[in-house]
Amino acid sequence: MTVFHRLNIADITRETPDAVAITLQVPKELRDYYYYTPGQHLTLKARIGGEELRRCYSICSSPLEMRLQIGVKAIPEGRFSGFVNTQLKAGDSIEVMVPQGQFGYQPHPDTSGNYLAIAAGSGITPLLSIIATTLQQETDSQFTLIYGNRTSRGVMFREALTDLKNRYPQRFQVLYLFSQENSDIPLLKGRIDGERLKDIGRILLDYSAFDRAFICGPESLMDDAHIALEQAGIPAGRISSERFNTTLSNNDKAVDSAERIATRLTIVQDGLEQEIEMSTEDNSILDAAMRQGADLPYACKGGVCATCKCKVLAGEVEMGINYSLEPDQIEAGFVLSCQSRPKGDGVVLDFDV
Ligand code: FES
Repeated sequence: MTVFHRLNIADITRETPDAVAITLQVPKELRDYYYYTPGQHLTLKARIGGEELRRCYSICSSPLEMRLQIGVKAIPEGRFSGFVNTQLKAGDSIEVMVPQGQFGYQPHPDTSGNYLAIAAGSGITPLLSIIATTLQQETDSQFTLIYGNRTSRGVMFREALTDLKNRYPQRFQVLYLFSQENSDIPLLKGRIDGERLKDIGRILLDYSAFDRAFICGPESLMDDAHIALEQAGIPAGRISSERFNTTLSNNDKAVDSAERIATRLTIVQDGLEQEIEMSTEDNSILDAAMRQGADLPYACKGGVCATCKCKVLAGEVEMGINYSLEPDQIEAGFVLSCQSRPKGDGVVLDFDV
């Protein structure tokens, strides 16, 4: 069963003219369900304009604070983010799925490392959680953040970042880049792209000194940062990234490379089997199963969040867009149900893994 709970909103703080931080109240009896690791996200569900919508937002708080807070930036024509930014208020309640997501880092008191984070805009949200938790739990570790925005007014969590700098002056540094604001350092005026990252690596930072890197932002930033960091000597396996925006819209016919054939398949959820008919009209296994009443977990429907992941127990499926599963997970048989179609009869998918 997809686990949503209705949680009260304890507080809404305006971070920038178009972004808020929302603190959710987790009752004692639900605390175990809402335990999270730094970097994970929450899926929120609401009826807006007569339609049920779901969106996932990264958790910005640290699990060490015993607080559950997300950051939500209003995107142009974003119905959900607009609703959250303009209509929700403290004291309201909203349906929230238990924390999901594979992006992030679990710090350990016996570990020490030198870490790099690269964010643009609201991409700071999961990184703030990772940075704050790591600095608190790994007392010898260091973090450097490269954070790009259009202007200083658009910087989310500026106060929280300043607090971290004050608390860990020797172990945390931030390089702010502004694309539409002048800087005393010309290198820090402009967007974070491949050339700028290379220049920062040449002039200000030695990327090869970092043990791990975390990136969150739009696709172009992620691609450029991966290339720049790998060229500087950080192995791909030590670079973790989270896309918050893709150039594809939800259900963008991503699985159309698979020949559309009508099939029957079986899904296993909560230990129970359900037969599903997949028609040629169904974009994905997820769509077919939902049409037939299954209550499967999903959020983005765009291959980004991995909320819909399941394991292929029998048969073959073809997956379209995948921004979230790692190669070893695919090797182990995991697929994204929002991006997959069966290649024939006899497919069995396990959603309990
Ligand atoms: S629902 Fe997000 S990847 Fe499938």
